Amino acid sequence: MTTQPSIQGLHHDWSSPAVDASLDRIIEEIAQAQSSLTGVRGPDPDRAEAARLQFEHFGEIRGRGLFYPLMGAGLGRGALVELIDGSVKYDFITGVGVNAFGHGDLDLIRTAMVASMGDVVMQGNLQCNLDAAEFAALLLDAAASPSGRLKHCFLANSGALANENALKICMQHTDAAPRVLTFEHCFAGRTTAMAQIGDSAGGRQGLAANLDVDYLPFFDEADPEGSTSRTVAAMDEAVRRYPSQHSCFMMELVQGEGGFNAAPREFFLPLLERARAAGIPIWFDEVQSFGRTEDPFRFQTLDLEDHADVVTLGKLSQVCATLYTEELNPKPGLLSATFIGSTAAFQVGRRMIERLRSTASYGPDGRHAQLHASFRRLAGELVERLPDAFPSLRNPGTPAKPSEVVGGVGGMMRLTPHGGDGARIKSLLHRLFEVGVIAFSCGHGPFHLRFLPPIGVLEEHDLVEVLGLVGDVLEKGD
Ligand SMILES: Cc1ncc(COP(=O)(O)O)c(C=O)c1O
Repeated sequence: MTTQPSIQGLHHDWSSPAVDASLDRIIEEIAQAQSSLTGVRGPDPDRAEAARLQFEHFGEIRGRGLFYPLMGAGLGRGALVELIDGSVKYDFITGVGVNAFGHGDLDLIRTAMVASMGDVVMQGNLQCNLDAAEFAALLLDAAASPSGRLKHCFLANSGALANENALKICMQHTDAAPRVLTFEHCFAGRTTAMAQIGDSAGGRQGLAANLDVDYLPFFDEADPEGSTSRTVAAMDEAVRRYPSQHSCFMMELVQGEGGFNAAPREFFLPLLERARAAGIPIWFDEVQSFGRTEDPFRFQTLDLEDHADVVTLGKLSQVCATLYTEELNPKPGLLSATFIGSTAAFQVGRRMIERLRSTASYGPDGRHAQLHASFRRLAGELVERLPDAFPSLRNPGTPAKPSEVVGGVGGMMRLTPHGGDGARIKSLLHRLFEVGVIAFSCGHGPFHLRFLPPIGVLEEHDLVEVLGLVGDVLEKGD
């Protein structure tokens, strides 16, 4: 492939003393407004009723209410967000990982303002600006490995569409092999095909089964060797039963919706070797994990670069993408779409990725690893202080060890109170929301408290505050 050509002089340059001074003024105003956000705050009685009517009305329009009365007022600062009822809360789920620099980051607002001066709001596959080319090159650079396997990047406006593109690429490469091999508890998005892959009955109820999927058990931390050999045996069986019928082996290297389940290299390696031997393309779905673990991609931390045929990413990146090898580059006509993303999404996404890469976020001692270690330490203290709230999952009736109920990787943080009971976790989430913590659940049983905090701007004191509030609510009881 040719080396990245210079973009010097190709972008319209909006900077001028007048523009810069105007942007400075606006940023000052925003900072001034943000200074009112100093911590958690309850609803404003003068706004509460109007906000309640908005939720009710929006629920009627949508056909169902939102999980939480969660609607931003448009003002935020770091992990703190103001909602339309005037309350201020810690956002520790960030739109399921989209807003990785939290709320109102002034550098990103400035980037978006400059982007908004551009000639178009949305960019697509027929007419894109330089932003698309720069963005795709940046993603390939972030995924680069000495073997240089991932050569192509096709952009898309959602994780599900990036995944659809990945599936099409794999199917075409395998002459329309009809089956998909994946792991139990995976999630892939909500198109009709992705709903078949995702291991959730609710996601595909009432839909025609348009894809055959074989599920392998995921890694079990309590039994590393046993679970690895059971999964290897299940894979051998699936490949024996359906020779040459798998279009891909698709996997999240850290499962997101399925429970922030991580696995070591040793678990994946024999499976990936078998897929390679059977000619099954390997697809890493990093839509949820991209950017927030100890490397830009989880496959880099696990040193699995040489096994990646296709990689998908999204959420934090603002614009989603499918990366793939030269060998899998599909024939013309297979991939396209009207929209790729907005000009602001391109420029803000690029800025976020560049900031993460240039601010010591990555590596075993990087910010993400350190913040995760702080989370584990603080959450572990909570588990030891409140044994009744944290029963063991393996030995019911005894208190859990912190390592059993505190988990995840990097900016994917998980805590498992109440033995992972789904109804109790749901009720806990609503009580946390009331005291000012926005979190979500993951897992299919056990269920967990899921945190995707704004990792790009998160500080240890945010973790102290949030885990303090979790502790207060757990102490009060159901
Ligand atoms: C692993 C994974 N893949 C795909 C998707 C789908 O992404 P989107 O919701 O942007 O379509 C998600 C979303 O949660 C995800 O976690």
